Order: sequence, then structure tokens, then C-alpha cells
Amino acid sequence: RFEKIWLIFGVGALLLFLTVLGVSAFYLGNQPPSCLVTIDPEQVDTTAPFNKPGLNKVEGKDWDYELVYVASAFSYNPVKVEVPLGSTVKVMATTKDVIHGFEVTGTNINMMLEPGYVSEYVAKFDKAGEFLIICNEYCGAGHHMMSSRIEVV
Ligand code: CUA
Repeated sequence: RFEKIWLIFGVGALLLFLTVLGVSAFYLGNQPPSCLVTIDPEQVDTTAPFNKPGLNKVEGKDWDYELVYVASAFSYNPVKVEVPLGSTVKVMATTKDVIHGFEVTGTNINMMLEPGYVSEYVAKFDKAGEFLIICNEYCGAGHHMMSSRIEVV
């Protein structure tokens, strides 16, 4: 009789976990909150701010810098940037071709770059060191070679 109670408890817990997993996957999969601004993928090189990838100081905003990336198979532009320690940075990225990932290891920055959309994330860099940017969406033969570096100094 005790076995029966445990069995019900076990099955109940399993169903609860599956529900939570399903709901979170559904929301995350359908609503990437970072992809709200659109861009013509063929005009990336001539559309601001993507015509000048890299770190730009800004005034009068909630962040100190804008860090602009253009991804394409199989690299990120820029390949390396230096970010001043303690600064708040708005990372803005897009892709010229296929879907790429944009994960900055050791931080909360983990975005999906979709053609036609701008992905944005505001982060504070309060830890010194080198942070690797990697592509975590399979994008073709050179997928594993895609990387860039942020040096926080
Ligand atoms: Cu770009 Cu994988």
C-alpha cells in the first residue's frame, strides 16, 4: 500500500517536471526577446550601426558603450575588443547569412542571431579577464571555428 503512494508521487513529480520543461521550451522557442529590431540582411554592411562594428562610446543612455557585431559564416566582426572594467555595454548583433549563436562564456549573454533581426542585450562587465564568444547554433562546416574575444581590462 505504501508502494502505491510512492508510485503515485513519483509519476506526479515526473509529470510536473515534463510540464515545466514543455512550458519553458515553448516560451523560449517562440519569443526570443532580443530579436525585436529588424534589418535587411543584404544591407547589413551599409546600415548603422552595423556599418561600423566594434565598441562605440555613447552619451545620455543607460549604458556606456554599444558593442556592435556582424556574424557571417564563419566568423564574427570584430574578432577582438577591449571593454573597460565596470562599464555597462549594450551588445547589438546581427547575421548576414544564416542563423548563428552568440554566447559570451562566463556571462549571461547568450543570443540567437537570425537573418533580418537585430539581437540586443545589455550587460555590465564587472569581472576582469578574457571572455570567449562562441557560436552555439550549428551553421555549417565552419561552425566550430567561429569565435571572438572580449577582453575586460
Ligand atoms: Cu555560426 Cu555555428
